[in-house]
Amino acid sequence: MKVPTLPSAANHHPALPGNPPPCPSSQAGEGSGGRRGRVWEGDAGGLRRGKAAASDPAGASSGIAFEDVTVAYGALVVLDSLSLVVKPGEIVALIGPSGSGKTTALRAVAGFVRPTRGRILIGERDVTNVPPHDRNIGMVVQNYALFPHMRAEENVAFGLRARRAPDAVLRERVPECLRMVGMAAYAKRYPRELSGGQQQRVAIARALAIRPQVLLLDEPLSALDAQIRRSMLEELARLHRDLPSLTVLYVTHDQTEALTLANHIGIMRDGKLVAFGSAQSLYRHPPNRFAAEFLGRANLLPVKALVSDVGGLTHVRFGDAPLLARNHHGLPAGSECLLCIRPHDLRIHAGDPATAPLRGTVRAVQWQGEMHSIALEVGGHPLRLTCAPLKAPPEPGEMLALHFDPEDATLVPEDGDG
Ligand SMILES: Nc1ncnc2c1ncn2[C@@H]1O[C@H](COP(=O)(O)OP(=O)(O)O)[C@@H](O)[C@H]1O
Ligand SMILES: [Mg+2]
Repeated sequence: MKVPTLPSAANHHPALPGNPPPCPSSQAGEGSGGRRGRVWEGDAGGLRRGKAAASDPAGASSGIAFEDVTVAYGALVVLDSLSLVVKPGEIVALIGPSGSGKTTALRAVAGFVRPTRGRILIGERDVTNVPPHDRNIGMVVQNYALFPHMRAEENVAFGLRARRAPDAVLRERVPECLRMVGMAAYAKRYPRELSGGQQQRVAIARALAIRPQVLLLDEPLSALDAQIRRSMLEELARLHRDLPSLTVLYVTHDQTEALTLANHIGIMRDGKLVAFGSAQSLYRHPPNRFAAEFLGRANLLPVKALVSDVGGLTHVRFGDAPLLARNHHGLPAGSECLLCIRPHDLRIHAGDPATAPLRGTVRAVQWQGEMHSIALEVGGHPLRLTCAPLKAPPEPGEMLALHFDPEDATLVPEDGDG
């Protein structure tokens, strides 16, 4: 056995704010020969769990399931009947505006808040009533919650020490985790001697050191400046390629982070999940107005569907203008709905303006370095077009003929969720 069994003594360590003390699950911790225990043993010390999973036909990875989870503070319901599945090895991003319940959802998985209704499962295990320290979870929060009086390596070792891991395991795993996040050279530094990005890497290494079943990330990049955020995002993507069986629930209000990292995205609003789907399908075919506007920028024009042609292209009418669009959601003929066109899918019509499906008045033109952004008004509705920088951009007040590929336009129900 390469990873010695660890006593479940960590119960004595108090929960840290926003940072659950990493403790063994009963299976792994007691070395019961349960699935996880076996897998860790099969993993030759490194964090190459993809490999370990591959050698274990039962699979090492655990998913997360919310089953109709409601969380309320007194009379205030902040998470409303959330049902959501994160499959093993998947990254699911929960996005939504501030106060929509994202952090509450994560804290419910970590065990810091108890649902008033519903169940939470990690793998097959119902953890709804399991204390945080016994959930085998790694968590990273926004404001680098490292222990200020501990060096980077001591921070990473913390969870293992809490589990009373033998020195041999610490000597192997602490440098390994620091290496994974590119921080091997900074092991001896105190948090105050590290930049925000570096601190966050150490926080990720600390979360991974205990080999959690699931990793919970709550806006881990939000406090970093834009450039660092981009490179950290790439590193998180690489980390997940190195650890393909790690299940990740990633909370963010940043759509780029969600689209870059996540297999599936859930969109939260007022404690409710208002959309869930693969990143691509949610972006291409948002199920409601809120999803269309929250995930990416969207032009939404009120239209009436004329002919229902499910799955194919549907004729719609925008004012007097006949247009064609995808009807992914199968809206019936006669529906009043929204035509969603992303700004980069809208084009300046080069040919005869009379043949253009849309014409609009230019209201503002912004040059943003790598692109031009043009605000227009079409039939009394605002519309935005983005394109590669133009040599001769239009002037405000000018009439601009526009077109789009109907395959890039999708009908969105104008419903109560929107
Ligand atoms: N401990 C608490 N007591 C009372 N209300 C809370 C508590 N924690 C969060 N809330 C409320 O729950 C709602 C959701 O909060 P949160 O999950 O932090 O949202 P998000 O992470 O999406 O910004 C907010 O209205 C917030 O004020
Ligand atoms: Mg939050």
